[in-house]
Formats: sequence, C-alpha cells, structure tokens
Amino acid sequence: MDTHKDASGTASVLQIDIRRVREADLPQVVALDERVTQIAKPDYWRDIYDRYAERRVGERFFLVAEDAGDAAEFPLLGYIVGEIRAWEFGSEPCGWVFAFSVEPGTRLQGIGERLFEAMSTEFKNIGIKTMRTMVARHNQLHMAFFRSEGMVAGPYLQLEMDLDE
Ligand SMILES: CC(C)(COP(=O)(O)OP(=O)(O)OC[C@H]1O[C@@H](n2cnc3c(N)ncnc32)[C@H](O)[C@@H]1OP(=O)(O)O)[C@@H](O)C(=O)NCCC(=O)NCCS
Repeated sequence: MDTHKDASGTASVLQIDIRRVREADLPQVVALDERVTQIAKPDYWRDIYDRYAERRVGERFFLVAEDAGDAAEFPLLGYIVGEIRAWEFGSEPCGWVFAFSVEPGTRLQGIGERLFEAMSTEFKNIGIKTMRTMVARHNQLHMAFFRSEGMVAGPYLQLEMDLDE
C-alpha cells in the first residue's frame, strides 16, 4: 500500500494497492475502459483476461490498482497489461505494455507511474532488460507519460500499408 505525495510533499488521502487482476474485477475493468473510450468491450476484456490472467502467467501480467481506503469514487483505479515477447523481429525477449488506463478522476496522482513501475518490476524479476510500448506519434499525453517514465524512441520503425482496393 502506498500514498501519493503532492508537489508540497503532503500525503494525499488516496491509498492504492497494485495486484494481479481477479475475475471479479472484470466488470470494473470494462466499465473503466468504457468511461475512457466510450465503447463497452466486455468480450474483448473477457478474452484478455483468459489469455493474460489465466494462461502463461509467468510471462504475462494483468495488474490493477485498487483503492486501499474508501476515498475514491470507484474501487478500481487503473490497470496495465503486458507480456514478454521473444525473438520477434530479431529482438531478444522484451516486455511489451499494450493496455494501460487510469480512472479519469484520479489521474496525476502517481497511479499510472505505480502501475508502470509494478510492470517493470515484474519484467525485471524474470530477467527482462527492455520494456516497449507503441504510442501514436501526436498523442501528447502518451508521449508525456512514457517519456517521463524514461522511455525513449527505440531501434524499430512501425511499417504499414492500406489494404483497401
Ligand atoms: C496516461 C495515464 C495512464 C497516466 O496516468 P496518471 O495516473 O495520470 O499518471 P501519473 O500521475 O503517474 O503521471 C506520471 C507522469 O506522467 C506525466 N503525465 C501524466 N499525465 C500528464 C498530463 N495530462 N500532461 C502532462 N504530463 C502528464 C507527468 O510527467 C507525470 O509526472 P508528474 O505528475 O510528476 O509531473 C492516464 O492519463 C490515462 O489513463 N490516460 C488514458 C488512457 C491512456 O492514454 N492509456 C495509455 C496508453 S494505452
């Protein structure tokens, strides 16, 4: 459990725990994602849960931040999902983060950073030395967050083509 300290060093009332997701969390994960994206995707999250919380859990991590007190409006304050991907594109095994969100009402209180750090600790604990994600080049929030956590441009370029006729 931890408390976030604001710029003046004062501890806020928000206390959070980071832990592995449980099946009972799924409705809250779906609801948080819907609040952020305006699209409810229960089937998508069921599939993510089955694959990332039930199978190969030594190399797949679906973590959530929960309110350890009763200060927040919602008990589940954020999630992050990542996995080890090995030898793709000639790359040594590295840790990928591909889903990540914090409850809009509790942002800028260090929850995203706690989730990111928890994921990097999981990766480090199994010997992984590099962590990757992909961001839209003009998404200032994503760039600001990941750069503030120490991420920089990597050695690969994404390539794509339009398959419309
Ligand atoms: C990106 C996101 C996860 C950050 O969560 P958060 O809990 O607000 O982040 P933190 O409070 O831990 O912020 C850590 C650092 O990121 C940077 N940052 C976070 N939000 C920022 C913002 N709105 N503007 C500028 N910098 C920001 C800051 O450097 C911040 O450190 P500081 O507070 O000491 O300045 C959250 O904004 C979010 O869920 N966004 C919507 C979903 C999303 O974009 N997911 C990510 C990609 S899938």
